[in-house]
Amino acid sequence: MNAVLAAIRSRRVVRSMDDEPVGREALEAILDAARWAPSAGNRHLQRFVATDDPGTLHVLRMVSPGMIARPTAAIVICTDWSLAADFGFRPDVPGPWIDVGTAAATILLAAHSLGIGAGPVTSFSKAAVGTLLRLPDGLQPDMIVCLGHPAAGGPAPIRRGRAITWRDLTTFVP
Ligand SMILES: Cc1cc2nc3c(=O)[nH]c(=O)nc-3n(C[C@H](O)[C@H](O)[C@H](O)COP(=O)(O)O)c2cc1C
Repeated sequence: MNAVLAAIRSRRVVRSMDDEPVGREALEAILDAARWAPSAGNRHLQRFVATDDPGTLHVLRMVSPGMIARPTAAIVICTDWSLAADFGFRPDVPGPWIDVGTAAATILLAAHSLGIGAGPVTSFSKAAVGTLLRLPDGLQPDMIVCLGHPAAGGPAPIRRGRAITWRDLTTFVP
């Protein structure tokens, strides 16, 4: 199995993180990877708000019920709907939302490749995060990606029945 496939197979959401800082070099490498995520029309409508400030992370966690981890850094994936409108994207088109997913997948894998644990969170107050991060009008926070060095123990992965294989998810058509 090649290195990319092995990384895809071995990545897991990390919800238990220790106090060791992620470090700016790793954070910037992850953000550089995010820039290369595919985007609808190659429009790059996502903006990334990154923090490794303990106070900001503390408040971010307070307004995010889905944030089980105590990260030492976080990247908030935002969509610039003002820019989207300028490019002719209507608010109901799926492209900009799908782009949040491609950015998230890229960030999770990039972090994993560097030995940094990562986990997405969508259960948070968008209004509170917007205020905390002083986001301008039109910039909507869509996902928080927690980052930190994996700690031993912590919550078990969410399991739903037996392991799913690709065959369960796939239909070949002639
Ligand atoms: C759109 C989306 C939202 C998610 N929101 C949360 C969340 O709020 N809190 C959380 O702990 N995990 C969240 N997750 C992580 C999933 O629970 C996780 O990917 C899934 O259980 C599979 O685990 P694995 O990625 O380790 O294989 C989210 C994942 C996605 C794709």
